[in-house]
Amino acid sequence: MIYPVYIYGSPVLRKVAQDITPDYPNLKQLISDMFETMYQSDGIGLAAPQIGLSIRLFVIDGTALEEDDPALKGFKKAFINAQIIERLDEMVRYSEGCLSIPNLHEEVERESKIRIKYVDENFQPHEEVYEGMAARIIQHEYDHLDGIMFTDRLSAIRKQLLKSKLTAISKGKFSAEYKYKIAK
Ligand code: NI
Repeated sequence: MIYPVYIYGSPVLRKVAQDITPDYPNLKQLISDMFETMYQSDGIGLAAPQIGLSIRLFVIDGTALEEDDPALKGFKKAFINAQIIERLDEMVRYSEGCLSIPNLHEEVERESKIRIKYVDENFQPHEEVYEGMAARIIQHEYDHLDGIMFTDRLSAIRKQLLKSKLTAISKGKFSAEYKYKIAK
């Protein structure tokens, strides 16, 4: 099943999402539907709040970017109840976009390396270190769980310049090739 993607301005994108337990209903189906939703919108990551669910779950498939960063080979995962426990190394800038903010790309500064704890879809715990593009994608999706959009991380001046554009996006003034949902 393909979900509509909630667009900037939807209240669920601003909520702090909650951890889930192993008895969460139809979790594996949900994860598979999130991947499907992400693929049909050409995304490389999707967080549950972006489909209207305020739970700490996101999926990533970075394998399409393997040519840019060989470390992304095979990087396809669901992260549940994730916690970034360490942010390491220097800040790096790179262009980001978001399915919830169609047609907008801006350079965002983030840590180049992170350590993250999470459980997988079988609730098996993992602790891993990521760097490069993988660390960036994870931090972007993780932010969604805390109600943070990538535009929040821009400079005050840049945010001011983008204000009217973001308002227009929140009202549906954009074109997207995928199913989406704007706030009423
Ligand atoms: Ni996003």
